[in-house]
Amino acid sequence: MGLETSDDAGVVKLRDDLALVVTVDIITPVLDDPYIFGQIAAANSVSDVFSMGGTPVTAVNICCFPGEIPKDVLAEILRGGRDKVREAGGEVVGGHTVKDEELKFGCSVTGTVHPDRVIRNRGAKPGDALVLTKPIGTGVLISGCRKGKLDTSVLLRAAEVMTALNDKAGTLLADFDAHAATDVTGFGLAGHGFEMAKASGDITLRMFLSRVPHFPESLDMIAQGIGTSMTKGNRAALGENLAIDPGVTPEQAGLTWDPQTSGGLLVALEPDKAEAYVARLKDEGVGAATIIGEVVRSDAPGIELRL
Ligand code: CO
Ligand code: CO
Repeated sequence: MGLETSDDAGVVKLRDDLALVVTVDIITPVLDDPYIFGQIAAANSVSDVFSMGGTPVTAVNICCFPGEIPKDVLAEILRGGRDKVREAGGEVVGGHTVKDEELKFGCSVTGTVHPDRVIRNRGAKPGDALVLTKPIGTGVLISGCRKGKLDTSVLLRAAEVMTALNDKAGTLLADFDAHAATDVTGFGLAGHGFEMAKASGDITLRMFLSRVPHFPESLDMIAQGIGTSMTKGNRAALGENLAIDPGVTPEQAGLTWDPQTSGGLLVALEPDKAEAYVARLKDEGVGAATIIGEVVRSDAPGIELRL
């Protein structure tokens, strides 16, 4: 499984009690610190295994490095990646480097999962609650910092969120009978939510933006007109399938199509299970985990934004 509904990773059943979870992701630099960048790239790569309910086993680095970048910088990126993969329970077992004009780094990650515990991005049902496990807004913070509109200290705070693993959120999915899950990355909260809605059938994901955890500075950045290379495309991809309540500000709405790097999980599950899942995540140190919305029946898949 994997190709039909844009799942986060491919899953191959090997035995009745064992399946492989396979994925690849590479990203361009998020900030100047090479060690932190390595960690973010690896956390982002292993996230697609966690969001399927799996646990990482091996990672193979993919490095696209410009020739003029000093060797010690590359070594720091790789060290950050290796440390983060180990924290996730896996091991870097190799890699490949090519020269490229723009630096890119990430890994192909292989994990395992019990076939009965695979969680896909399809399966959300009307009546489900929606949980988000990390704050959003990192895309415009990265852009704002690049453009000199934002203090680096804000980006370093965001980096703590981007380096955080989705391990707890992912491995607990099956325990709380999650119906569907995906990680929030390049398409943003609304974009990945829309993928979930399309994969699940005729449902709308209703999100209450006053509840969505976010970096306060990200709203300032959007108000100042800061965007990213993906912002316009992400909004366009939602097309007519997006309904915005009049009370929602343009900044709040814009935040939902801000591309995320190593974002949290978006999970659909029964409301009582959602409360228990959030409580458990908070106990485990995932403080941002919040119920942000609900799944409602609709004629076509969609996203509805309310205050
Ligand atoms: Co993903
Ligand atoms: Co991915």
